[in-house]
Amino acid sequence: MGKSSLKQIRIGLHRNLIRFGIDIRKKRADRKLLEQVIFPELLRTPDYRRILFVGCAWYTLHYPQLFRSREFITMEISPDETPYGGSTHIIDSCENIARHFQENSLDVVVFNGVYGCGLNELPAIERTLLAVHHSLRLNGLFIFGWNDLPAMAPYRIEQLTGLNAFEPYVFPPLNKTIHESDSKNRHRFHFYRKELQ
Ligand SMILES: C[S@@+](CC[C@H](N)C(=O)[O-])C[C@H]1O[C@@H](n2cnc3c(N)ncnc32)[C@H](O)[C@@H]1O
Repeated sequence: MGKSSLKQIRIGLHRNLIRFGIDIRKKRADRKLLEQVIFPELLRTPDYRRILFVGCAWYTLHYPQLFRSREFITMEISPDETPYGGSTHIIDSCENIARHFQENSLDVVVFNGVYGCGLNELPAIERTLLAVHHSLRLNGLFIFGWNDLPAMAPYRIEQLTGLNAFEPYVFPPLNKTIHESDSKNRHRFHFYRKELQ
């Protein structure tokens, strides 16, 4: 059996078993943090009603179900990943977020593993940050997850000037603005708020 058929079997198993709470994925520390600390906090906060999740993959396919009590919109540049998006799914580059959402209309943008995983050119990254800022409401939350590895971080974080438009935010369950995973992929979550300029 080929590698891709095995992958399809694994995805099918995950899709069916996760409904019963059985999780066959191998999860790194950053994935556990996302799902066990960050997501519960989003779900605990009633103001976080309209959430944009950027970048879909087989291992995120059940996220729309986790957020069924919210408006959970997925966005992904590759049509191949559409089966892993939610019922409201946008096939487009995150550079174009502002084409799909009005100003101040999103409560949360979860932007994990996209910078350095396809979104690699500085102008496109800056366009994305500008668009996220435009579409987030005041006090809206921006979660920026990335891997601090040379192969996966095309620029130093200080070079991403669009991030300066946001205010670092102390994320309550972690009590810090940046979480650094103690794992091989050197994953970092940065938490930001949109504040009045
Ligand atoms: C590592 S994967 C999955 C990321 C997922 N958000 C997570 O939490 O793991 C990165 C995904 O980002 C998508 N991606 C890359 N560039 C993108 C862009 N400009 N706009 C939207 N999605 C993009 C890729 O196609 C890929 O499916």
